[in-house]
Amino acid sequence: MILGTGSAWDTACVQLADAARHLDLDDGMHDLLRTPRRSISVSVPLLRDDGQLLVLSGYRVQHNLARGPAKGGLRYHPACDLDEVKALAMWMTWKCALMGIPYGGAKGGIAVEPGLLSRQERERMTRRYAAELVPLIGPDKDIPAPDVGTDEQTMAWIMDTYSTHTGHTAAGVVTGKPLSIGGSAGRAGATSRGVQLAAFAALRELDKDPRETTVAVQGFGKVGALAAQYLHDAGCRLVAVSDVKGGVHNGAGLNPTALIRHVARGGDTVVGYPGTDTITNAELLELE
Ligand SMILES: NC(=O)c1ccc[n+]([C@@H]2O[C@H](COP(=O)([O-])OP(=O)(O)OC[C@H]3O[C@@H](n4cnc5c(N)ncnc54)[C@H](O)[C@@H]3O)[C@@H](O)[C@H]2O)c1
Repeated sequence: MILGTGSAWDTACVQLADAARHLDLDDGMHDLLRTPRRSISVSVPLLRDDGQLLVLSGYRVQHNLARGPAKGGLRYHPACDLDEVKALAMWMTWKCALMGIPYGGAKGGIAVEPGLLSRQERERMTRRYAAELVPLIGPDKDIPAPDVGTDEQTMAWIMDTYSTHTGHTAAGVVTGKPLSIGGSAGRAGATSRGVQLAAFAALRELDKDPRETTVAVQGFGKVGALAAQYLHDAGCRLVAVSDVKGGVHNGAGLNPTALIRHVARGGDTVVGYPGTDTITNAELLELE
């Protein structure tokens, strides 16, 4: 398969064209599976704590609703745009269909660096974005979840905003919310567990022993940090991790528990963690 060289949307379209060829789909069906059912762009005015007004761009794409309500995460990242959200929504349609669960695919996002906002600013932004989407989301329509830059607190704000508008508690409008308001136990680590299981399936294919395998994890956030922990606990040697600011390397092995504690204590980045060499994200991907 030749992947698209441009945006995530180009890549997704090349993948779809490849699948359509294998399945001998006619042009009309190919077109239907490529075209998002709904692409929504909203402006998200945000009053900063210092009184400045910022107008951010938000998106929600419902790619396909044929198998059930749309399902997919919400991303806060400066590089987020409609093309990226369209691609991620299409991939969600495929993931739900491949797993045989009765959902369609969706994704959402706001083009913003959440780390530069205060908690109060993130709450105002999230609630305004959610209010714009109230007519389009819901337990039977479209169910957001955490993704890059968002977390269970973000989901709680969306659930509360939606519930306020509909006049009743609607726990089913989001997944990935806190346990105390109806979240599922084990959800926080579920994606990371999936990364571990997929990596182990690949190792079995390659006939490799996990205990003789080194691991490098790019992105030490909600998913990456726990994936590093699970792979380490299962016997792999974690030699490098990174975040948006850069990476750290130690060929003798890194302790993910200590790294997670370091970042949680306000370290902000893994870079500079004692006993490691600093590497770039590109170098991390080229490690043996
Ligand atoms: N959170 C979920 O439940 C969930 C579910 C399904 C899929 N995913 C996918 O997992 C991946 C990680 O999501 P997350 O929820 O852990 O996000 P997160 O925001 O918690 O963490 C993202 C991490 O990636 C780093 N990062 C961001 N830009 C980077 C860059 N350009 N180079 C290197 N590192 C960079 C950040 O510094 C951070 O460490 C995403 O691809 C997301 O779509 C997440």
